[in-house]
Amino acid sequence: MYLCLFVAYNRALMRPRILRYESLPSTNTEVARLASGGAEEGLAIVADEQTAGRGRLQRAWSSPKGAGLYFSILLRPLFAPVRWPLITFVAALATGDALLEAAKVETDIKWPNDLLADDRKICGILAEAIETPAGRAVVVGIGLNLTDDAFPREIANLATSVATQSGRPPEREAILAALLNALSRWYSLLQEPEGALKIVAAWSSRSSYTAGKLVRVTNGAETLQGITRGIADDGALRLETAQGIQLIRAGDVTSVRPASMNV
Ligand code: BTN
Repeated sequence: MYLCLFVAYNRALMRPRILRYESLPSTNTEVARLASGGAEEGLAIVADEQTAGRGRLQRAWSSPKGAGLYFSILLRPLFAPVRWPLITFVAALATGDALLEAAKVETDIKWPNDLLADDRKICGILAEAIETPAGRAVVVGIGLNLTDDAFPREIANLATSVATQSGRPPEREAILAALLNALSRWYSLLQEPEGALKIVAAWSSRSSYTAGKLVRVTNGAETLQGITRGIADDGALRLETAQGIQLIRAGDVTSVRPASMNV
């Protein structure tokens, strides 16, 4: 009994230890490297720029100096792997909290883990499971556009930044401090017995994509279209297609305007 309490208390205190760099190829790659050498849960890395930033689905993540928050943290979850996909939900909830608290920017979440402001992407999250000598671990990487210089001009109609949304110069350190606090809180919640359900509920309440949205999902060569019908307990997107409800576990989601609105 005492041992259980001690373990729960100890896990709740995920104390981030931040290492800062001027330039790195990728903060995710560096955290993974240090994790292989035995780094503990909570190791966090921030870089002013990334020269080989990585996004989901093997894409590059544009990371020019001073234009974004490029951040990664090491987690060593002890809970069942079935809950691990919810770690990206934790990261999205925490980043949303941090943006609201430190920059007064309201966000929407697009499944699985893009943060949108004004219907444009402001933040991307890349969670990667890795094998280390101390066991399987997860590197959570967060790329937040602080200014419009963070993304290429070609995608200016799809992306936005904290500066544009808040109308003020972004305060990276204030956002980072709020992010670390919020991450600790949501990650602790995920470890509680009813935590997964609470995380899915919180995430769902903050996403306009949760239910009733006509979307297209592309995964490699496969494309599906349907209406979103909620989030399953493990974080999968429930999509109602002509073939019935499908559980989506990977892919890119885009909102589709009904034909009648395309005028
Ligand atoms: C996405 O495709 O939306 C996810 C982008 C994740 C980018 C961040 S920036 C910090 C960390 N390091 C990386 O190389 N990628 C993630």
